[in-house]
Amino acid sequence: MAKIHVQAVRGMRDILPQDQKYWQFLEDNFLKTAKSAGFSRISFPIVEKASLFERTIGEETDIIEKEMYSLAPKTKEPSDRGKDKEKEEKETLVLRPEGTASVARAYIEHGMQTLPQPVQLYYTGPMFRHDRPQKGRQRQFHQLGLEIIGELDPILDAQLISLASRLIKKLKIRDFTVQINSIGCTKCRAKFIKKLQEYYKPILKNLCPDCRKRYSKNPLRLLDCKELACQEYKAGAPQMVDYLDQEDQAHFRQVLEYLDELEVPYELNTYLVRGLDYYTRTVFEIWPKMEEAEDPSRFALGGGGRYDDLISLFGGKPTPAIGFALGAESIIELLKEKEIKVASREIPDIFVVQLGELAKKKSLKLIEELREESFKVISALGKESIKSQLRLADKLKVPLALILGHKEVLDGTVIIRDMHGGMQETASAENVVDEIKKRLPRENF
Ligand code: HAM
Repeated sequence: MAKIHVQAVRGMRDILPQDQKYWQFLEDNFLKTAKSAGFSRISFPIVEKASLFERTIGEETDIIEKEMYSLAPKTKEPSDRGKDKEKEEKETLVLRPEGTASVARAYIEHGMQTLPQPVQLYYTGPMFRHDRPQKGRQRQFHQLGLEIIGELDPILDAQLISLASRLIKKLKIRDFTVQINSIGCTKCRAKFIKKLQEYYKPILKNLCPDCRKRYSKNPLRLLDCKELACQEYKAGAPQMVDYLDQEDQAHFRQVLEYLDELEVPYELNTYLVRGLDYYTRTVFEIWPKMEEAEDPSRFALGGGGRYDDLISLFGGKPTPAIGFALGAESIIELLKEKEIKVASREIPDIFVVQLGELAKKKSLKLIEELREESFKVISALGKESIKSQLRLADKLKVPLALILGHKEVLDGTVIIRDMHGGMQETASAENVVDEIKKRLPRENF
């Protein structure tokens, strides 16, 4: 039979057991932070209608133009479920490229406007973008997101940024900066974009091909270009902060004042525009500090901002909101690069070593009993020599080994070996579980 060449899809990775500790560490800290700040979990489908993202993220953005994975069912059954269902079945479906639009959809769909506001939700899970796979960038990647819907007060912007910054610190990442900007309301942004186009028009021919396209399609992104050729023109470009109206200015000033009060360091970055269209007013990103030559914006650990118009775009009553998402891959790559130590919760408590057929049978029961008591127990029932079993226990850093040979079975005993010090004691088989409870720290129970 011809062999099948199997390999994961480019840009989509397995997360192997040895890496799970990083994911656990990230998720544990995220969950603790989210829960302590009063957020509740929301889960939403991986597949959504394309229309959910098209106008919210923006038709002219990279995500919508070239990065969405769309799906089509293999067979199209003739529909007997009425015109509406038929129309719905014809809608293009996509793998979600982000979570904010789905959360906003769910907020409206489930009548969350009637709950006490703001509604604070968190989520974790895979997102999909047909991006160019590179350091920290995958086509299936994972986000941990927080959304606060139903409150306009700038204190929330500051609190969310502070929460994000504290979370990064909890992850033992020290070298990072919070980049912050205000892109104002839709009205003043339109004025700014006009000025930006006026500035760029005479120098258009000197810009990179992408920027020439951005000029008419998504002019704000001109400020975000990473090409060297375009960088020098950025310096003379008009700045959004000069075009904010009074309310936007006051909002931004208050956000910064609250951040000072919270002692959260930040860098004002007038070029920060974000790659999604739904934002209004405050936008921010968390960047790792990098060597001079590298561009930290490419490795953003997370990003977010206000999206005060999104809910009304979906037909809900005007409802302000702000949110943020961390990129798991970017964070985990940084933890590894910086060799940040992360405790592994995968180390088993006990290795059961056995020798001979009789001991092998007896050890089955013992293993079950210990697992009933919630100990993490492993063994190597296929291995014959005690030496090789102990070597394996040592390699896996298991703190205790229980040794059961022919003699021990006949005597009704078990040897308890402390794998760190090498000390051995004999315990009666009947009491061995209690003996283990005494020896292993309380948190195991
Ligand atoms: P975003 O900036 O597109 O924002 O993504 C947030 C983070 O996800 C990025 O900073 C990055 O760490 C990670 N990320 C994005 N694309 C990739 C990729 N291809 N591979 C690996 N990691 C990636 C949003 O998605 C917004 N929904 C965030 C938000 C929440 N705004 C308001 N609420």
